[in-house]
Amino acid sequence: MKVDVLALFPEIIAPALHTGIIRRVQEHEKLNINLYNLRDWTTDKHSTVDDYPYGGGAGMILKPEPIFAAVAALNPTSDAQILYLTPQGTPLTQPLVEALSLEAHIIVLCGRYKGIDERVRDSLVTKEISIGDYVLSGGEIPALVLIDAIARVLPGALGDYESAHDDSFSKDLLDHPHYTRPAEYAGIKVPDVLLTGHHENIEKWRHAEAIKRTAQRRPDLLENIELTDEEVAIIDESKVNQN
Ligand code: ADE
Repeated sequence: MKVDVLALFPEIIAPALHTGIIRRVQEHEKLNINLYNLRDWTTDKHSTVDDYPYGGGAGMILKPEPIFAAVAALNPTSDAQILYLTPQGTPLTQPLVEALSLEAHIIVLCGRYKGIDERVRDSLVTKEISIGDYVLSGGEIPALVLIDAIARVLPGALGDYESAHDDSFSKDLLDHPHYTRPAEYAGIKVPDVLLTGHHENIEKWRHAEAIKRTAQRRPDLLENIELTDEEVAIIDESKVNQN
């Protein structure tokens, strides 16, 4: 897939593209990421990208012309996704990441200042995405969050492809606890079941821990799931043990 990023500060994003999983998926040609500076599509001698809001008020607005020109230069087909990162967008979730990872061409538009001219949203943008209920100084870091989340679900991204499908949120549950050696550290032991080599019991334990953790920390996630009687009993028992 191809991801084109339009930003005023692409240098915020650039270093992260040379490291870890994002680098690996590019090397394997699963992901082709291109960073562009919106100023390259300005036409005046000051390379002006913003202007005052009509009607007055604080803050500057990104002008429409450089954005329309930049998007046209990127040649999107009618099924390309043109994403605008904004706190007003749809919350980014794992299912949305997985859906976007199937796209062939994504253009990511990073906002700055007070925002963009509404005509860009109306005429160009196919989806607005928020990475959380807080306001950052621009869309570059959210763009990197989005690219990282997409990169790691592409086939071949992780050494063990399965592990992306087992982690938190992939089954609407938080992840279970993990342990590595030593079996006892500072007097604290790894749960016995993990040392038995009994895969079925280990899977059962992990699932029960994931259910308990989700019930404790993110009960809202359980509203999307139909729990079995056994799972309800696990949650009830963990509540009794908590009290
Ligand atoms: N730009 C500024 N804040 C943002 C957020 N929370 N999500 C996406 N884009 C943003």
